[in-house]
Amino acid sequence: MSVAGSFDQWLQDAVGRVGGVLSELLPEADESTAHLHEAMRYAVLGPGKRVRAALVYAAGEASCPSGSASAAQGLALDGAAAAVELVHAYSLIHDDLPCMDDDDLRRGRPTVHRQFDDEALAMLAGDALQPLAFDCLAQMPIAPALVVQAVQLLARAAGADGMVGGQAIDCASVGHALNIDALQRMHRMKTGAMLEASVLLGGVVAGASSTARNGLESYAAAMGLAFQIVDDILDVTADSATLGKTAGKDAAQGKPTYVSILGLDASRSLLNDLREQAHEALLPLGPSAGRLRELADYIIGRTH
Ligand code: IPE
Ligand code: IPE
Ligand code: MG
Ligand code: MG
Ligand code: MG
Repeated sequence: MSVAGSFDQWLQDAVGRVGGVLSELLPEADESTAHLHEAMRYAVLGPGKRVRAALVYAAGEASCPSGSASAAQGLALDGAAAAVELVHAYSLIHDDLPCMDDDDLRRGRPTVHRQFDDEALAMLAGDALQPLAFDCLAQMPIAPALVVQAVQLLARAAGADGMVGGQAIDCASVGHALNIDALQRMHRMKTGAMLEASVLLGGVVAGASSTARNGLESYAAAMGLAFQIVDDILDVTADSATLGKTAGKDAAQGKPTYVSILGLDASRSLLNDLREQAHEALLPLGPSAGRLRELADYIIGRTH
């Protein structure tokens, strides 16, 4: 993945690179595990956008003091990119279960519990992906102190003060009109936390300076919130074929979203503010943050 060249090519390379890593590390289908391995591979290797992995790689590029990652740092970035995609895939399997959003379509295909017609298997596939993510981090060939930092970052982002906590608030908020502060908090937790962790993991692995780290933190906070606002908007404005998941579900299920609370225009204008915030945060990092800048535009301008 070169610093030169088009963003589209860079992103395609990042998607291919983490896809290869994930395919290698996921267990092969094995009849003795009653489809568990098959369900794990199905969930992870489906056509996701791999935005979180791309953020890891781009933050790594932005933070390398020497300009380019060493071979060991490259392998560690692969481990971190795979780890965030594993936790994300697990969160999607559980999010789609009948006890949560009850969705049939994900990444243009049946959701895991639908595909295997087995809710317990889907739950267990998600459960198994989570420890695998931490195993990936544990194997990163970098200084042990950095590995510990990375493990703590992901654990906090995925847990009760991050993604899982946000999902709990989401489930408890159905049918309630949250005020904007509560809505923002829910979005920052359920989605923002994992995007933030992706950016910060890239920085940790690449040995980001404290100036770079500060920039990455404010960039990540803006993009984490922006990502879920775009998701809320697309649920209303896009169709299921484009999204690869069922459109219109938020309103149908009475979920509080940026669109239901602020409306489309105010949500879009907030996105513009967040894009500016993200770009500004990267200024101290200079040209090496080019891919992060482009990723901010991609995340905000995406159509699915
Ligand atoms: C969907 O995430 C769930 C949210 C956190 C909004 P993505 O839009 O990144 O889903 P994939 O990985 O591309 O399928
Ligand atoms: C999901 O938010 C967030 C997580 C999976 C953590 P949504 O429920 O809005 O995601 P989609 O729209 O189903 O992808
Ligand atoms: Mg949900
Ligand atoms: Mg959902
Ligand atoms: Mg959604």
